[in-house]
Amino acid sequence: SVAKVHRVACIPGDGIGVDITEAATRVLNTLSTVLKTFEFDFTTFDWSSKAYLERGWYMPPDGLDQLKKYDVIYFGAVGWPDVPDHISLWSLILPIRKALNQYVNVRPTSILPGTKSPLADCKREDLDWVIVRENSEGEYSGQGGISHEHSEHAVATEVSIFTQVGIERIMRFAFDTARSRPRKKLTMVTKSNAQRHGMVLWDKVFYQVAKDYPDVSTDKMLVDAMTVRMVLHPTSLDTIVATNLHADILSDLAAALSGSIGIAPSSNLDPTRKNPSMFEPIHGSAPDIAGKGIANPIGAFWSAAEMVRWLGETEAADGLMKAISNVTAAGVKTKDLGGSEDTKGVTNAVCKEIEKLF
Ligand code: NAI
Ligand code: MG
Repeated sequence: SVAKVHRVACIPGDGIGVDITEAATRVLNTLSTVLKTFEFDFTTFDWSSKAYLERGWYMPPDGLDQLKKYDVIYFGAVGWPDVPDHISLWSLILPIRKALNQYVNVRPTSILPGTKSPLADCKREDLDWVIVRENSEGEYSGQGGISHEHSEHAVATEVSIFTQVGIERIMRFAFDTARSRPRKKLTMVTKSNAQRHGMVLWDKVFYQVAKDYPDVSTDKMLVDAMTVRMVLHPTSLDTIVATNLHADILSDLAAALSGSIGIAPSSNLDPTRKNPSMFEPIHGSAPDIAGKGIANPIGAFWSAAEMVRWLGETEAADGLMKAISNVTAAGVKTKDLGGSEDTKGVTNAVCKEIEKLF
């Protein structure tokens, strides 16, 4: 029989984005070679800060249309010290998320076997969360401006946009996620005491949508108190829904509490499936360790597993997660997780494990 072909647009980007994308591609090719039921057809796009510095652009004018032709997008990281971060983010990753209607960003967090949380008393089973981040509007909607920029009277606005439609669709996704998990528990995060318009609308829509999910238990947190609860009572949380900015910050904290930012995956989803979804580790380009070959590739592999699951290859996704767990359990880890392996060492071990599993 002819293997199914999944067309993947690959954007390695900058810094360790390049190393971990290469590692993820190797692991994905190992999966397809071993399973034989599907293949990946990768196309790599050199859209990066390095390219921008040379030629003046990240994506060509038809870049977004090019991406629409693929089944999925795999993304490394973008950002480099020679380019202001708002230029790199707004030239590549944010336009993709917005134009391709990837209004959900899913960020699971758990402690992998053979690793531990920096929280002294936190066991593996004590921390198992999914953060659902609104990915299209809110604080990152891009509205605002600056006047009198080069004077002492410079004035800047950064306007948050919250829409009923935008809030309702992220809430429904979050409730569906909570419902699919054993504890059926959803915590909603805002700052609706100090921010009295947009965040109050969040609260209101949350309770409206909650009526359609009587089997899901709910609670509500202010974001500042939420940081405390994540650290002191991790077991009290399961699924979490928050705005673009809040969930961005909380998911870095979640990653750190689970052991390292280097293991944390994310899926930028268009749940309507009209556009390709995009999968990327949550970390950035890490200029401090770029080019050293020591980046932890686990976040990239976990993101690849989520991508494979989105493509409907459940057996491959489960196998890849099992391979990752077996490798960390065996103590094959990079330095950020307290190990002594490099990127290549962990990648080789995961590939070998995949070959053993199938
Ligand atoms: P970062 O995530 O790149 O690095 C933070 C710290 O975590 C650094 O010490 C780094 O060495 C470490 N780290 C990150 N990933 C690691 C891995 N896989 N293995 C081991 N250690 C790892 O965040 P930072 O430093 O704030 O940003 C660097 C650049 O990346 C900036 O230009 C920023 O704008 C960009 N960025 C891009 C993102 C994206 O493409 N989605 C997300 C976050 C930041
Ligand atoms: Mg972030």
